[in-house]
Amino acid sequence: MPAIKFYDHEPIPMEMHKVKIVQQLNLLPAEQRLQKMKDAGFNTFQLHNGDIFMDMLTDSGVNAMSDNQLAAMMTPDDAYAGSESFYRMVDKLEEIFGIKYCLPAHQGRACENILAERFVKPGNCVIMNYHFTTTKAHITRLGGHVEELVKDEGLEAVSDLPFKGDIDLDKLEACIAKEGAENVAFMRLEAGTNLIGGQPVSVQNFKDACAIARKHGIISVMDASLLQDNLYFNKIREEACKDMTIREITREIADQFDIIYFSARKFGFARGGAILVRDEALFHSMEDLVPMFEGFLTYGGMSVREIEAMTVGFDESMDMDIISQGPQFIKYCVDQLADYGVPMITPGGGLGAHVNASEFVSHISQEEYPAGALTCAFYICGGIRGMERGTLSEERNPDGSERLASMELVRLALPRRVFTLSQVEYVIDRVKWLYDHRDLVGGLKFVHEPKTLRFFTGRLEPTSDWPEKLAAAFIADFGEDQ
Ligand code: F0G
Repeated sequence: MPAIKFYDHEPIPMEMHKVKIVQQLNLLPAEQRLQKMKDAGFNTFQLHNGDIFMDMLTDSGVNAMSDNQLAAMMTPDDAYAGSESFYRMVDKLEEIFGIKYCLPAHQGRACENILAERFVKPGNCVIMNYHFTTTKAHITRLGGHVEELVKDEGLEAVSDLPFKGDIDLDKLEACIAKEGAENVAFMRLEAGTNLIGGQPVSVQNFKDACAIARKHGIISVMDASLLQDNLYFNKIREEACKDMTIREITREIADQFDIIYFSARKFGFARGGAILVRDEALFHSMEDLVPMFEGFLTYGGMSVREIEAMTVGFDESMDMDIISQGPQFIKYCVDQLADYGVPMITPGGGLGAHVNASEFVSHISQEEYPAGALTCAFYICGGIRGMERGTLSEERNPDGSERLASMELVRLALPRRVFTLSQVEYVIDRVKWLYDHRDLVGGLKFVHEPKTLRFFTGRLEPTSDWPEKLAAAFIADFGEDQ
């Protein structure tokens, strides 16, 4: 389907679906939102969903399902062992990726656990374009360390580089030489690189990096959780992909890798995960870990209903009309805000719009979690729940000092097929207001700090009474009922 043209203005993002089931939203007034933020320990993960107007925390497991997905969920084959639903999923994955061995797992991090258990020994290195929080936690838990070799430009907030997720091939060669190939557990390339703003990797870079890994006998792994966004960008930004179908691009990428895993909370618009393994012997060497951690080999901790929904979702991920929705809404949001002067990560990527908190609240030091504070401010000013992706999401160094993140981002995720353009306009409006009142935002400090993945369950407090002052300024401008 070509992009829809308009008679008297430039195209706007268009929903290529109609809404059939809705969920009522609730907009609490600012004074109550302030109280809810305090109750949640200034951590947006601790908010109750009923107190949120725009839940932009994540696109994980909260994408809208299609009628075809829901229909498929009505006809699963329930069996502890040998479920036909599983075999239908495996066939679909083989059709798309050309890999026939599949280990199911209940979500992405469960796949990461299995891969880390199988490959990572103390002192090992895992090479990545960039880490993801749960991936890294599994590797360091087993005594490994992560080397992130994304190109330097990938970490520049403002850029017109089309593939900011590309790994730096010189750094890759140098890292293998330094660590020794035998000490590299595997190389993991993340499609739609999450923590640097959902930024894509080019097909060419996938090919070049995997060729280097192959040359050194290093196993190549793709995290395909955000592959659907990556594919959209390959198609529209990469000359060599212009005339290829999404399925052809997918196969071209998949053919480079020994192992592909994904969270089906993202890829497949459902809830689950799987590891695809090209080599039979390698597959068998991981097999025993699935019944141990997940469930029997034909369900892996997933409900068979979800397996059916995933299978339909994989097909939908190969449809340009469907996968273009997210990136188009994100681009609209990013461009509007950037035009206003709000510091955004550009170009817009997949997954969500990413606000550059280092600049937005440049008066807050990294030790006081600027992205975390800004995330709380978005909720207080609009009932918008975003996610901190900065120093708060890191873990401390072994000596207890802060590991300062290379980027301080607030992610405003756009789960697929969930929000309309008017809702996106609301978010843009509230972010603009907050940008004009950014001096009112202050820092945060921990009052309860878990050692691992502290951003999920930690509790914080403001370093001053800034939340009260911010809420008062908002009420003065918008009234008490907003
Ligand atoms: N890999 C990537 C690139 C991810 O974005 C995620 C999850 C995972 C692995 C782990 O998958 O959640 O199913 O266990 N990302 C979510 C997010 C949590 O909000 O970005 P999972």
